[in-house]
Amino acid sequence: MVNNNLSLEKNINKLKQDKNVVILAHYYQTDDIQDIADFVGDSLDLSKKAASTDADVILFCGVKFMAEVAKILNPTKKVLVPDLNAGCSLEESCPADKFAQFVKSENSVVVSYINCSADIKALSDIIVTSSNAEKIIKSIPAEKEIIFAPDKNLGNYLIKKTGRKMKLWNGSCIVHEQFSYKSLVKLKERHQDALIIAHPECPENLLDSADFIGSTSRLLSFVEQNKGRDFIVLTESGIIHQMKKLSKNSNFYVVPAIKEDISCVNCSNCPHMKLNTMEKIYEVLTEENNEITLSDNLRIRAKKPLSRMLELS
Ligand code: 13P
Ligand code: SF4
Repeated sequence: MVNNNLSLEKNINKLKQDKNVVILAHYYQTDDIQDIADFVGDSLDLSKKAASTDADVILFCGVKFMAEVAKILNPTKKVLVPDLNAGCSLEESCPADKFAQFVKSENSVVVSYINCSADIKALSDIIVTSSNAEKIIKSIPAEKEIIFAPDKNLGNYLIKKTGRKMKLWNGSCIVHEQFSYKSLVKLKERHQDALIIAHPECPENLLDSADFIGSTSRLLSFVEQNKGRDFIVLTESGIIHQMKKLSKNSNFYVVPAIKEDISCVNCSNCPHMKLNTMEKIYEVLTEENNEITLSDNLRIRAKKPLSRMLELS
């Protein structure tokens, strides 16, 4: 039962202390969740935090594949999520049976973006995030063929950046794939001095217009380095919360999805990330339900390519 004398936030903090919980949150979470978290980060930083925490319980506020990574890297911890339905369109686009066929007869290095299921990780040689993908792909010997899954947009971007040939899985992110090029052009006409910053999950025509491309943490560093400038943002709108903290006088313009109006503010929300709420966090900390479980066999196989990633990052 919620102690009504305390606010939701205080109740969460009390449960956190009583149960020795660490709350990890991705930049795409709502502002209140980011503010209550012990650590906010991109996929790579969150993986590192999950691997090194000595808390008894990890409450992962992001999407399910991220919480699975926490469990794979720190299996003795209890890993909870506010909502077990928080999936990812990239993960959904890549079923394990079809992927096993795709990689079967190939003598290639299988590089998978961290936005995939534990089953796909177990079929991969190495995992990457958008923060380390370029560096890791460049470290693969030139004579080796590369298969990259599941994001074709990130894959195409990496082909351009590294000059490496890669066979790509045909997946994409429903959020980044939908940004409207027409709206981007209109916004740039209205705000000619604004810098366009984009996540590499965006399609090529959008990336070609960007002044800077990077993972969520790199986009934040770029904003910090360009304090006071205005920005047109081609990624999920949750990140604006941290951007505003880094550059208080900047304006941030979010590019709407194709079907939305140019003045829409919440239309670049990830429907999976936004399933998490403060109420659900309170509930899961009370009940300790929504636990991430993986068989030992799958966990051990999925850990190998993740450990390779951490070694090379
Ligand atoms: P980052 O690793 O850049 O935080 O990206 C995660 C993600 O899901 C982007 O859609
Ligand atoms: Fe997946 Fe896209 Fe949501 Fe990121 S923004 S979690 S890639 S659906």
